[in-house]
Amino acid sequence: MEWAEVDLRRHPRMIVPPPGPLSNRLHDRCTRYFKGLSSQVKLFPVAFESGEGCILRDVDGNEYIDFSSGIYVATLGHCHPKVSEAIGRYAGMLMNAHDFTTPIKTKLCEKLADVLPGDLNGFQFYDSGTTAVEAGIRVVRAATKRNETLSCFSDYHGKTYGAVSHGQFRSRVYGAVRAPGAHMLPRPDAYRPIWTKPDKTIDTDKYIEFYQMYLDQGTVNDGAGFVLEPIQGWAGSIIPPDDFFPKLRKLCDKNGLLLMMDEVLTSWGRTGKWLCSEHWGVVPDVVTIGKGFGNGFPVTCVAVREPYKECFEAISASSSYGGNPMACAAALASTEVIEEENLLEHATYLGEVALKRLQSMLREHPIVGDVRAKGCLMGIELVKDKSTKEPFADAGAMVYQSAFRKGLAWIPAGHILRMSPPIVMDERALLKGLDIIDESIGEVEAELGYA
Ligand SMILES: Cc1ncc(COP(=O)(O)O)c(C=O)c1O
Repeated sequence: MEWAEVDLRRHPRMIVPPPGPLSNRLHDRCTRYFKGLSSQVKLFPVAFESGEGCILRDVDGNEYIDFSSGIYVATLGHCHPKVSEAIGRYAGMLMNAHDFTTPIKTKLCEKLADVLPGDLNGFQFYDSGTTAVEAGIRVVRAATKRNETLSCFSDYHGKTYGAVSHGQFRSRVYGAVRAPGAHMLPRPDAYRPIWTKPDKTIDTDKYIEFYQMYLDQGTVNDGAGFVLEPIQGWAGSIIPPDDFFPKLRKLCDKNGLLLMMDEVLTSWGRTGKWLCSEHWGVVPDVVTIGKGFGNGFPVTCVAVREPYKECFEAISASSSYGGNPMACAAALASTEVIEEENLLEHATYLGEVALKRLQSMLREHPIVGDVRAKGCLMGIELVKDKSTKEPFADAGAMVYQSAFRKGLAWIPAGHILRMSPPIVMDERALLKGLDIIDESIGEVEAELGYA
């Protein structure tokens, strides 16, 4: 991990106020053609040139501490030598062999069967999160020979039609019609609960009771499975109560539904486990793995439990790029790095350190309504008033921009600030990034008349 250590005497290193002149010029040239930018880029249109470990360099020479991992992707930092070497080696050996067997794919499958919990030992590989989600949903349907699926408000699963139909944001943004049979239900959010116990804490049982009622009365009795994220990443790192997934697993079993976890964002060390669902001792029937899986190389996976392996054939699962040699090499190398460098333990430790620091921000700042961290997946929710919990999106944009200017590359989401530092980051660099956020929140509060 030493290679990724941040020298805080040198970093962050801002030599011109960003976005600097070279960034601006390049961005203008590029965006004459390249359209459809995310809010992240619109709010801070800097142009990046290179990255090394936990440092990102823009074209003006400014160097930022990376709290984004690209977009939750470069979990092992940028250009981890072992991963880059593996991709380069296979780029010089074999570009594509469709779904024929190759030595590297065989090794990857054996490794996955070894590290994944329970009997998750059937695999297919894809080139993006959303294509993996599509395949996973089709496996759920093929395995049960039923069609209706249940997902949750504020979940995000990607941008192809099936994935959009199981998520919140995108279907609304596009005005798309949800696929027939795709139902959405509220899920427990301890900070914004719908159902509470007399002591005002969240009542998970009420959610589960509602799901049962919905299955009985809101579906046509053709339920195939639940499809949901273990922690809602895009929605703001929303962590469910500890009893939610064990209870949901029981509900699925009782009703003959499969449990599909979309772990595109939360897997491969991001939360300190291979799968985030391991935090609650739950083994999903179908699970998608992505983002950090290839540490930047586009490779994703659908893993299924033993009884559902043959369903891959039923859905004609292969694809042009799925399981190509470079992809398998990137995924295998990433997996080995996580093991060799004890990164699951390290990510867990960083999450504990971050949570303490975030909790101090919660106490000190009038606009910080809630904070959360599980491993290196973190969030800060900004509100106009702690008692009304009214979301404060304007403040979110301002804090995002202010911290970026100070040398922190990260991810906004309206009133929720999201953080996903590489799990190779050292503790001091993590704390430096959090200091920058703390300082930025303070400045924005002063500007908005809160301090
Ligand atoms: C939980 C989840 N599923 C699926 C996707 C889609 O992945 P991709 O952008 O690789 O298609 C994402 C992307 O952020 C995600 O967070």
